[in-house]
Amino acid sequence: MLKSRYLVQPEDFSIQEIDNIIDIAHDIIEYPGKYAHALDGKVLATLFFEPSTRTRLSFEAAMNRLGGRVIGFSDSKSSSTSKGESLEDTMRIVSGYADIIASRHPIAGAGHRAADAALVPFINAGDGKNQHPTQTLTDLITIKHYKGRLDNLTIGLCGDLKYGRTVHSLAKAMNRYENVNFIFISPEELMMPEETKRELKPGCFEETSNLRESLAKLDVLYMTRIQEERFEDKSKYERLKDVYILDKKKLEYAREDTIVLHPLPRVNEISTDVDDDPRTVYFEQAKLGMYVRMALILEMLGVEVSSN
Ligand code: NCD
Repeated sequence: MLKSRYLVQPEDFSIQEIDNIIDIAHDIIEYPGKYAHALDGKVLATLFFEPSTRTRLSFEAAMNRLGGRVIGFSDSKSSSTSKGESLEDTMRIVSGYADIIASRHPIAGAGHRAADAALVPFINAGDGKNQHPTQTLTDLITIKHYKGRLDNLTIGLCGDLKYGRTVHSLAKAMNRYENVNFIFISPEELMMPEETKRELKPGCFEETSNLRESLAKLDVLYMTRIQEERFEDKSKYERLKDVYILDKKKLEYAREDTIVLHPLPRVNEISTDVDDDPRTVYFEQAKLGMYVRMALILEMLGVEVSSN
């Protein structure tokens, strides 16, 4: 049974709880039939005040595959927010309709506000540039799946480390495992924020703007999109948008055992000519995200499926 009623950031769960969720996800992959009616009669609300494809659909697919049902909206314009309703009121109301809520919001910090107001288990599906803990669960299960471990790794986080919420959550989560080192690869304008770096173990990261030179050192390369929607100055976005492009030529500098992840959607930062390289696993990563969300929903609702 999880200690926390909500998941706003990765630290809300212990690493034992996270490891357990990953184990359950693997069991679901192996024995899907066992779980097909685990959540019969339960309702998940997906409240997306900011656009999403993967996260929302993978939550919905996860709930459907557990026998549950889904209500919600995918655009704040079609909710009462457009009439001025507060986030807190929306959460209270929906708590009367659903057994669990997953919500995404454009404002950093909205995850905590929503968790405080919700009267049922709450999952932050991304709040502005802040955190994205279920993407982190997706990233962790993918790394475990392909590397067989979550410790003793060198991880390169590349791209928009300033506005990318997935890298903020992933760095904080991986920092809790033994002997994990980071190489933060970004242009100067998009470096990892001080507040995230402050929370990491001393000496566990280096910073550079050079992707090519970093490649040979990495067990995992985590590419990210430059977050256009978070730039106030669009000309700055135009200048930075193609700063990193991983293509066939560049990937030659990586080791044979390096894996390449991306939370997706990608824009230009990964060329399609590397999609069939066995080291690139972002499409498998998106699929693993559905299974890990199935495990998460089960755990947050305290539903145990017997092991036989
Ligand atoms: C990410 C997000 O929303 O932060 N997408 C996702 O959930 N898979 C990454 C991004 O939008 O760049």
